[in-house]
Amino acid sequence: MNDYAELHKQAQKAAESSYSPYSGFRVGAIVIADDGRVFSGCNVENAGYASSICAEGNAISSAAAAGVRKIDTVVVACLDGGECYPCGNCRQIMREFSVDTVVVQDGEGSLRVHAFDEVLPHSFGPESLAQ
Ligand code: THU
Repeated sequence: MNDYAELHKQAQKAAESSYSPYSGFRVGAIVIADDGRVFSGCNVENAGYASSICAEGNAISSAAAAGVRKIDTVVVACLDGGECYPCGNCRQIMREFSVDTVVVQDGEGSLRVHAFDEVLPHSFGPESLAQ
């Protein structure tokens, strides 16, 4: 059983490393792999705005680079905003690694725990290509 409040604190800690001079919007993410390993990431922006990388994508890339192919949970924290849901691109990145659960803050001090299908319904994934 995951302690989502504790994981969200870890995501907030990751967000403290955010490099976000353009938006001033600091995001952190924690990824729990199916083998229990934990990875973190923050958003890293770029003067070429489109080259910026989201916190979730960064954390998932670290996990993938360490050999992870199945992710159970992603927890997202934002330090400069209220409600904080992953962007569409990050939802698609999560889909690739079969994320089951996405935890976000609601902006009023509580966490929302979502099944992945709520976050990205009718999604396109690896199985869609294997027909
Ligand atoms: N951002 C994330 O890191 N994750 C999201 O899912 C939403 C947006 C970042 C990207 C950019 O650095 C900043 O937040 C403002 O969009």
